[in-house]
Amino acid sequence: MDNSQKRKIIVAIDGYSSSGKSTMAKELAAKVGYRYIDSGAMYRAVTLYALENNMIDPDGNVDSGSLGKALGDIHIDFALTPQGQHTLLNGEDVEHRIRSMEVSSHVSPVAAIHSVRQALTALQQRFGTEKGIVMDGRDIGTTVFPQAEMKVFVTASPETRAERRYKELIQNGTPAKYEDVLANVIERDHIDETRAESPLRKAPDAAVLDNSHLTHAQQSEWLLNLFHESELKANGSEC
Ligand code: CDP
Repeated sequence: MDNSQKRKIIVAIDGYSSSGKSTMAKELAAKVGYRYIDSGAMYRAVTLYALENNMIDPDGNVDSGSLGKALGDIHIDFALTPQGQHTLLNGEDVEHRIRSMEVSSHVSPVAAIHSVRQALTALQQRFGTEKGIVMDGRDIGTTVFPQAEMKVFVTASPETRAERRYKELIQNGTPAKYEDVLANVIERDHIDETRAESPLRKAPDAAVLDNSHLTHAQQSEWLLNLFHESELKANGSEC
């Protein structure tokens, strides 16, 4: 069977904050010619909208009623730019702004709101109708695409993850303190794991990848092998 005849699959990559999911999902998608979708960017874009429209008070309480009503006015999409895939919020490129510490520190409470999850889950499922996608997040293998042919659950120690995120922020010219980044990573893990709706969990059929001590090359090889196995299985009856 040549590549054009192969049945495309859905790849779901879930895991803890700053575990390197996005980088690995992006790379895998580019290697196998799939579309990459960053579901976390969608929650971040909704959070930016809420911050800019005064729906989050100085104590961090989110006005979920107003945000729920505004969801119909929030349009999220992705555009391919020379710098890679960028997130658009109502047509505006917000890729840089959604990565700020301000958005990071408010995103998990926003992502715990029922109406927000419902709207974004539906949007994510629409992206998957054609298959041939790699999507990363917290609940992709459990709630968004429980039928995904390949599921990965990524983890690493909180310190390793905070160090990665800290370096990324500094490289992008965003001021940050390592201690704040570590506290944010731990807090988001806690909120994501304990929320009532679609909490962060490993799907029973997900393969676990602890990349605390893996080199980039080892991780890429592991992922590509699993992709080929999953693709072969999905095409099993036709091989
Ligand atoms: O910063 P990091 O890459 O770790 O997270 P992200 O993928 O950008 O997601 C930001 C936040 O959105 C997470 O901490 C979750 O609270 C939320 N999220 C979610 O609830 N469900 C998803 N499928 C993706 C993200």
